[in-house]
Amino acid sequence: MLRTHTCGELRITNVSQTVTISGWVQGVRDKGALLWIDLRDRYGITQITIETDKADQQIIDTARLLGREFVISVTGKVTERYSKSDKIETGDIEITPHTIVVLNTSITPPFTIEDQTDGGDELRMKYRYLDLRRNPVRQNLELRHRMAIETRLFLDKLNFMEVETPVLIKSTPEGARDFVVPSRMNPGEFYALPQSPQTFKQLLMVGGFDRYYQIVKCFRDEDLRADRQPEFTQIDCEMAFIEQEDILNTFEALTRHLFKTVKGIDIPELSRMTYADAMQQYGNDKPDIRFEMKFVELKNLTLGSGSPLLWQGAGGEAFKVFNDAQLVVGICAKGASEYSRKQLDELTEFVKRPQIGATGLVYARYNTDGTIKSSVDKFFNEQDLKNWATAFNAQPGDLMLIMAGEINKTRKALSELRLEMGNRLGLRDKNKFSAHWVIDFPMFEFNEEANRWFAMHHPFTSPKPEDLNLLNSGNLEGLGGVCANAYDLVINGVEIGGGSIRIHDKELQSKIFSILGFTKEDAQAQFGFLMNAFEFGAPPHGGIAFGFDRLCSLFGGADGIRDFIAFPKNNSGRDVMIDSPSLISQEQLNELNLIVKG
Ligand code: AMO
Repeated sequence: MLRTHTCGELRITNVSQTVTISGWVQGVRDKGALLWIDLRDRYGITQITIETDKADQQIIDTARLLGREFVISVTGKVTERYSKSDKIETGDIEITPHTIVVLNTSITPPFTIEDQTDGGDELRMKYRYLDLRRNPVRQNLELRHRMAIETRLFLDKLNFMEVETPVLIKSTPEGARDFVVPSRMNPGEFYALPQSPQTFKQLLMVGGFDRYYQIVKCFRDEDLRADRQPEFTQIDCEMAFIEQEDILNTFEALTRHLFKTVKGIDIPELSRMTYADAMQQYGNDKPDIRFEMKFVELKNLTLGSGSPLLWQGAGGEAFKVFNDAQLVVGICAKGASEYSRKQLDELTEFVKRPQIGATGLVYARYNTDGTIKSSVDKFFNEQDLKNWATAFNAQPGDLMLIMAGEINKTRKALSELRLEMGNRLGLRDKNKFSAHWVIDFPMFEFNEEANRWFAMHHPFTSPKPEDLNLLNSGNLEGLGGVCANAYDLVINGVEIGGGSIRIHDKELQSKIFSILGFTKEDAQAQFGFLMNAFEFGAPPHGGIAFGFDRLCSLFGGADGIRDFIAFPKNNSGRDVMIDSPSLISQEQLNELNLIVKG
C-alpha cells in the first residue's frame, strides 16, 4: 500500500499508529543528530523525523540522498512532537520512519514550490505542473471546483438540464473573431469553434428543453487582457416561458447561493441600474459601486443660467476648455484635499496616458480651513469654486477632480480616474462584494469605422416592445434610442454575466439582421437554421451566461483569471508549456488543402 493517510491528515489522536504516507519532498534539514523531511501532498505537509543515533543506517543514507520534489513513500510510527508547530495542521505530530521508499527522483525545480515563489509568470506557465503543486494555485482550482459543483446543485434543483452542444460549428460574422478548424473531408471548408453556445441553447428551447445550462468552453480570438482568455468557460443558461424578471430573479438566486455556500457571505438584494444611469453617474456600463464617488455634471452650472460668465475668472478671461466642452464633469474624492502637488501631477499624467487619452485634469482642493484652491484660479473666483463645492456636496478636506470634453470620451476617462482614486483611497476592498444588475441596454451601437449599426449584446436579443415602433419607423438615426431586453450582472466593477430575452419571431429576427447590414440571402445562409426553427412553434425564451473564470477569480480575490485556469495561455495566446500554436507538417497541410503563405 502506498498510503494509509494523506500528508494533511494525521493528528495527536493518531499517535502510536503505524502509517504510510506518500508525497513530494518539500525540504530536508540535516542537523547531524537529527534529520527532518517535510513531506507534502495536496492535503498538507507532515514532518518525518530521523534520530541518526537510533535509526537504521539505510534510512539515514536514503534521507541524505533526497532532493526537493523527490517522490517518496514513508512507513513509520506517528509520535507526538517535542516542539509543536501551529503553522501546519499536522504540527502536533511527526513520523519516525521504519522505511523510506524513493518512488521517483526529481531534477531541481526551476522555481521554489512555496506560497511565495521566486518564479516569474512565464516560467511558472512553462512548468505549470510544478506551479499546480503550490498552495495558492491549487486552492484557486479547488475553489473553481466547488463553484462548479454548487452551480450544478443549484440549477439541478430548479430542473435545469445540462446539455452538451457541439464544439465544431459554423463561423458567423457577428461578435468577436472566430477560431476556425479546417475540414479534411470538405476541402476548402472550415468549422468554427463556438464563441458561445448561443444559437444552440435557443434551439434547445425550440426543442422543448425549457431549462438548459452548461458549464462550457467558449473560444474568442480577441485581444487578451487580465480578465480575458482565448478559451474561457461560461455558466451558460437558457429558459423558456419566462420574462426578464424571471431571469433576473433566478440568477440573482444563483449568485446568492454561490456567495453563501462558497464564501459564507449573505449578499444584500441586488440593486438595478439602467445603462443610461450607469453611464451618466459612473461613465461605465459596469460600475464598481463598492464606493460612491458619483459623477457630478457641472456644465449646467455654467451655461444653465444662460451665462457662460461663471467660467470666466476674476481677470475676465474665459476658460475655453470648459466653455467649448460638451460636458464638464467631475468627482469628489473624500478626504483627499491634502494631496501633494506631486500626487496631483501623477493623476494628470494618469489621465493623459494614451489608453485614457484625456487632455488634462482640473482640480480644486477644499482645504480644511474652508478655503478652496484650484488649478484654474486664474479663471475662477472664490464664489465660483464655492458653487462647485455645493454641486459636488464637497466638505472641507475633499478634493474635486474635473474633466471636460466630448461626452463619451470624457465620461470614459473620468471613469478610469474614479477607479484609480478608488484604488488610491483604499475603497476597493477585495473582501467586500457589491453585486448589481445593469438593465435597459441600448439595442444597437453605431460603429463609425464600419459605418453601420452593431448589436450591442447580440443579434438574437429582443428589443423592448415599446420601442418596436422606433425599429419600424425606417429612421436609421432613431435606432440609437431603441432599448433592448438585455441585462448584465456586475460585481465589483467586473462584468460577470450578460444575457437577454430573445427574439422568437422570424419576421422580427430578419428585420434585425437587415438593420445589421445582412442581405436576405446572407441572413438565410448564416442563420437560416434558426429562423426556420422559429417557424415551428418557438416558445418565448431568454437566458444569460456568467463568465465562470471571472466569477472564480472574483471569489478568489484576484485581479486576473489566469490563475483560476489549470492550463492557461499567455497574453499572446500561447500555451508556453506545450508550445502551441505550432507549425504543422506539409503532409497535414496537404491533407487539409491548406497553403501557408510566406
Ligand atoms: P457575453 O459575450 O456577454 O454573452 O459573455 C458572457 C460572459 O462571459 C465572460 N467572457 C469572458 N471571460 C473570459 N475571457 C473572455 N474572452 C470572455 N468573454 C466573455 C464575461 C461575459 O459577461 N451568449 C451570450 C450570453 C447570453 O446572451 O445568454 C454571451 O456569450 O463575464
